[in-house]
Amino acid sequence: MERNKLNYNQAPLPFQGQKRKFVKLFAEKIETLPDDTVFVDLFGGSGLLSRAAKDTKPMCRVIYNDYDDYHLRIANIANTNKLIAEIRGITGSMPRFQRLSSDIKEKILTVIAKHEQDVGYVDYITISSSIMFSSKYVLSLNGLRKESFYNSVKKQDYSPASGYLEGLEICKCDYMRLFDEFKNNEKAFFICDPPYLNTDVTTYKMNWTLRDYLRVLNCLRASQFAFFTSEKSSLVELLEWLEDKFSYNNPLKKANEYRIRTTVNGTAGYEDIMLLKIR
Ligand SMILES: C[S@@+](CC[C@H](N)C(=O)[O-])C[C@H]1O[C@@H](n2cnc3c(N)ncnc32)[C@H](O)[C@@H]1O
Repeated sequence: MERNKLNYNQAPLPFQGQKRKFVKLFAEKIETLPDDTVFVDLFGGSGLLSRAAKDTKPMCRVIYNDYDDYHLRIANIANTNKLIAEIRGITGSMPRFQRLSSDIKEKILTVIAKHEQDVGYVDYITISSSIMFSSKYVLSLNGLRKESFYNSVKKQDYSPASGYLEGLEICKCDYMRLFDEFKNNEKAFFICDPPYLNTDVTTYKMNWTLRDYLRVLNCLRASQFAFFTSEKSSLVELLEWLEDKFSYNNPLKKANEYRIRTTVNGTAGYEDIMLLKIR
């Protein structure tokens, strides 16, 4: 059988924690699910996994929990491109990743403030990735003022991402509310990708604690899910230990585990994990 094509291998705009590395494997694994499956993306983030689910299974309902209003960022791509073009005009032919002087920084801040006044919206995450170092992000003009600027402005525009949200049912609520709505639906397949513990979550508008993280385990009592975690969180290990020592009913016990290694600085690295349970 010919496989449906994935239209996006990565989110159209920068998004910390997007499951770019898992998207192909995820699509491959859900392919055999029936066409009346209802995908419920509890922590939708950039919507990349929702998009992959819809592209792979076009007949299925896909519910995307857009907790961070990513759709607003998508809707503003043309504006964001315009603003980046203005910033590009200021940085001119300066070498890439060069630290920008305070004069240049002031000019850029003025342009951003004016854009915010005129358009009423600034995609600070995308703008951060144009003028800050590596994966640092802030969410406001005041946040930008406190940072050093670097010339990391992209040479090309972001593509308009037309069709990226097409066919998705978009909602915005706490994941538990969405889970409660679908937990008794036999067709439901939960995509569960919470913010990781011990990682930088400054771009999400929230404060994620260990208690919150453990509360997510309730969703893994469902009969079908794809759960994403990282070896950095040690959750898989913790649950196995609880199972061994205290006969804890480990919700991940019957799930298949897939690991993808990310290397940092050439040698050191860590593994991201997808746990998949299909009825
Ligand atoms: C690891 S990211 C998900 C990434 C997503 N799978 C992707 O590929 O882009 C976790 C997301 O959960 C969101 N989030 C945080 N608290 C939440 C809550 N209580 N309910 C729903 N989503 C929440 C964060 O804002 C963030 O967008």
